[in-house]
Amino acid sequence: SKSDIEPSRLKILKTSTPKELPALESLKFGHNFTDHMLTISWSLSHGWGTPEIKPYGPLSLDPSSTVFHYAQCLFEGLKAYRCKDGKITLFRPDLNMTRMNRSAQRLALPTFNGDALLDLIKQLVRLERHWIPQKEGHSLYIRPAMIGTQSTIGISPPDSALLFVICSPVGPYYPDGFKPVALHGTTEHVRAYPGGTGAYKIGANYAPAVLPQKEAAQLGYVQNLWLSGPEHHLTEVGTMNLFVVFRQEDGTLELVTPPLDGMILPGVTRDSLLSLARSHAAGTLHIPNLATRLTVSERGVTMKEVCEAAQSGRLVEMFGGGTAAIVSPINKIGYRGQSIDVPVEEDGMGPVSRPLWTELVGRQTGEIESDWSVVV
Ligand code: COI
Repeated sequence: SKSDIEPSRLKILKTSTPKELPALESLKFGHNFTDHMLTISWSLSHGWGTPEIKPYGPLSLDPSSTVFHYAQCLFEGLKAYRCKDGKITLFRPDLNMTRMNRSAQRLALPTFNGDALLDLIKQLVRLERHWIPQKEGHSLYIRPAMIGTQSTIGISPPDSALLFVICSPVGPYYPDGFKPVALHGTTEHVRAYPGGTGAYKIGANYAPAVLPQKEAAQLGYVQNLWLSGPEHHLTEVGTMNLFVVFRQEDGTLELVTPPLDGMILPGVTRDSLLSLARSHAAGTLHIPNLATRLTVSERGVTMKEVCEAAQSGRLVEMFGGGTAAIVSPINKIGYRGQSIDVPVEEDGMGPVSRPLWTELVGRQTGEIESDWSVVV
């Protein structure tokens, strides 16, 4: 019978040449990697093999490996935090395990026991705990990935695959405080389409997004705003989920994000922000400094609605949400030759993003007690 991932079979080979820890000021997102990585190979005949934690280093792969030709690859992103009391925690890692399995299923790559992989990730993080910076806003970004390694160039479900996990110490996404970004409303390319793979965290969604990003940069924008369909529905911003806040006719606020209709990546940050805002609005949680009369909507938003709200002063704020940056405020959208100003307050944030961000980061770093925080 074929085996699943089995943590008790873990083999650990420690490096004999540990690296020097990078200076915190020099950290650039995703540029530094720790001493070790986790690898688990899979074959159609035997299932998941021996998990190994070994020195970080190059993989040796046949050039015919399907990953190099047909984008048989998927990834995840989550962070390990060092709390003030010394505990090391992960934030809602079960969601990453579930999503990784959904991506694997979609790419006809092997699925696995998510709890077993999480157990192994915890062992890797424990071994690398000294790499988690002991400084506010810092964490260890964990990157699990899976690739198809069948060494034949016919297209088929791979008969072999490799799952690996690497770790990267990261600093605050905005070292000088929140820096709102200007977005190019992209209409000449689409990120996702109905029935497509936009809702999966697979490499194939990211490679084609680099050129539109480059084009946005050439036009003087920091990121692109992905628009979709004839009505230019707002979908995502760069590699993040998108949030818009409107002031309604009665003066109350509405927090809006596009629904999970198959074109939106089901982000952990997205889900967390929605859940916090909904609990606050329902009165089961109190988030300081957040309006209590708040409507939380998962619904479509068009550029027409955003332009009209901006003109009538009902556009309150817009921001991106993702694991890497957590919250990324937006101050401008270039759209069909026009420039739309999006309000931002002095600290770069807004009346909804600021309290939500504070609450979320509090829970991630252990300042606020939460069952989303999982001790390693
Ligand atoms: C995010 O955390 O916002 C991401 O999508 C990860 C990014 C580096 C691809």
